[in-house]
Formats: sequence, C-alpha cells, structure tokens
Amino acid sequence: MVSHAVGRVAPAEGQSLRRVKIAGLSTYVPPKVLTNDDLEKLVDTSNEWILQRTGIKERHIVDPGVATSDLAKEAAVGAMRQAGVTPDEIGFIVVGTTTPDTIFPSTACNLQHKIGAHNAWGFDLGAACSGFTYALTTGMQMVATGAHDHALVVGADVMSSIIDYKDRTTCVLFGDGAGAVVLSPAAEDEPHIIGFSHEIDGSGGPALQMPAGGSRMPASHETVEKRLHYVKQDGQAVFKFAVRKMEEIAHRLLSKHGLDASEIDLFVSHQANRRIITAAAERLGLPDSKVIINLEMYGNTTAGTIPLALADAVAQGRLKRGDLVLLISVGAGFTVGSVLLRWSL
Ligand code: ACO
Repeated sequence: MVSHAVGRVAPAEGQSLRRVKIAGLSTYVPPKVLTNDDLEKLVDTSNEWILQRTGIKERHIVDPGVATSDLAKEAAVGAMRQAGVTPDEIGFIVVGTTTPDTIFPSTACNLQHKIGAHNAWGFDLGAACSGFTYALTTGMQMVATGAHDHALVVGADVMSSIIDYKDRTTCVLFGDGAGAVVLSPAAEDEPHIIGFSHEIDGSGGPALQMPAGGSRMPASHETVEKRLHYVKQDGQAVFKFAVRKMEEIAHRLLSKHGLDASEIDLFVSHQANRRIITAAAERLGLPDSKVIINLEMYGNTTAGTIPLALADAVAQGRLKRGDLVLLISVGAGFTVGSVLLRWSL
C-alpha cells in the first residue's frame, strides 16, 4: 500500500505550538502465557526467586511467526477506535521497538500497510525501554507544530524473539506486548501533555545489549553458536542506574514546570522490576496509592510497559480525566525518558 503524507513544517507565523492530548489508548498482549512454573522447567530458577527479586508472576509470549507489527496492529486499531479517528486521518506513525519485524523494512511501514493508513508516513524509534516515552514525545511534536492533526504512537515488542531461554538471569524478566495511543490537538480547556525531559548516556551500552546481528557483528555461524543474538545484561548495574535516574529526571521535569512530586496523581513507571519502581517511588515520596505496578502479569515488555500500565490504571478506576500523570522510563543505551501530562480520556 502506498501512502502519501503531506505535513505542514511549522506553525504559521505568529502562531504558537498547539496543545496535544491523548485521544485514544489501547493495548494488546498475545494469548499464550508463560508462568514462573513453566520457567522452572526450562532453567534453574524458582517461582519464589522470581517473585521476590522481580515481582513477576507470568508473561505473555507470541506463537512462532507472530511479529511486533501484529501486536502493534491490534493496539493501534483499538486506539483509533477510541479516538474516533479513521486510519486515513493518521498523518504520522512512530513505533518504539527493540524487536522490529525485520531490520528493514521498518515495523512502522508494516503497520501502516496492515491498518490502511494511506496518508501516513513514519518510522521505528530505537530507545529500548524508553521506546514509548520517546515515541510519545516525537508524535507530540508532529501534532504540536501543526505538521499533522493525528499521530499514531506505538510501543511494541516481541522480546521472546531475542531472549535466551537457557539464561536464567534474563529469561525470567521479559514478555511480549504492545500499546498505542492516538495524539490529537487539545482544545483550550482540555487536559493535555505538559512536557518532557529525556537524556541518554551511551557509556552504559555494555550493561544491556544484544551483541550480534548489527553492523559491528553481523550474523554468522559463530555468533549463533555463541548465543550472541540474545539480550545480555549486567542486572545490578542497570538496577542501580535506573533507581538513581528515575528520581533525578522526575525532579528535573517537575521543577521545569513548577510542580512538586506531591502533586502527582499517578506515577507510571516503565515496568522492569517491582523493586526498581518502589525504590523510585519512595525516593519521590509517593505512596503506593499513586503508583501503578502491573508487571506481575506481563513482565518487562520493553516499549509496551507504559501504555499497558496506563490501560490497567484506567481499567482499575485509578486514572481519571484531569489527573497529573508522570511517565518515566529507563532502558538500554542508557536511555532515560520522562513525560508529564494531564490525563485526557
Ligand atoms: N533464578 C534463580 N537465581 C538466579 C536467577 C534466577 N532467575 N537469576 C540470577 N540468579 C542468581 C544469580 O546467579 C546470583 O547467584 P550467586 O549469588 O550464586 O552468584 C543470585 O541469584 C543473585 O543475583 P543478582 O544478579 O545479584 O540478583 P539481583 O537481586 O540483582 O536481581 C535482577 C537480578 C532481577 C536481574 C535485577 O538485577 C534487575 O532487575 N535488574 C534490572 C534489570 C532490568 O530490569 N533490565 C531490563 C531493562 S532495563 C530497565 O528496564 C530498567
């Protein structure tokens, strides 16, 4: 399917940036469930260890042949339905993912074709666990500048495609899932996205990576034999960096907007480890009632975690229109992302 995107480059002279709201949200996880008991049969681990160290009980994983764009499509269709926007009205698609369908073409191209978004252009965004916060920020710019009226922002990953189910230090952590939002202009009095603060620290690269399959170490018999096409991680280094950075970036973003942590209604962190989230929340002085944790059902779905957590917060009645929401992510790179918004659904 061919798509022709025509966008405006910048706001007209004298006009300011438009306010942008989340107009629709939807998520999808594949039906198959991999429990801690299942993992006990694959590696030397136990339900108790996984629960105590991570908080995860189960995760969803795809059947063979199911790709990231398949999960993304399910989420995207639901988000467009809630927003009341047709595929033809989407001008821009960004897919935050670490597990694209293929290195090329991009998952965004596959998704555009699957949903029939004839007027959209777009691309994949690689920021690992910060895929959703970075994609949200990118989509927001497209709508804020007036370049496009409706942007489709997706965070989706099939982590089971790059997880070594012989490595107990990583295989217990991850799952597959997707979330999508439609961004649209907000009216003057409507809740909207307030701002963001992001950073990267490339010195953290070796702590969390998939060593082979890129230009530095293309696929070969040797890379396959050495199991280099899987996630490798220094868990403790990632853990410490995540807790420290979450607090730091939260304070930076809040103070930029003259807000205090006590004003947050809901803290929606990337869902990697229960202990990381509770440590960050404690440092910010946030009670449990203001923190959403749903990783027990999904594990770490990388770019999918934040929309999945938002959707569960809505389903649990813990998120209402106008609430001040802080999204935070830390991921491989290292990438650090934070977005502050007023809930608009
Ligand atoms: N089952 C049983 N034992 C295990 C397992 C397992 N699945 N995995 C590791 N162990 C063992 C280790 O071998 C070690 O044994 P040893 O003491 O005999 O050497 C022991 O448990 C303790 O290992 P640690 O690595 O010190 O355990 P820790 O408490 O740090 O927990 C974990 C490990 C869960 C990986 C933690 O470090 C973590 O969550 N780190 C953050 C990583 C992360 O979430 N990354 C995702 C992407 S980035 C992000 O989202 C922020």
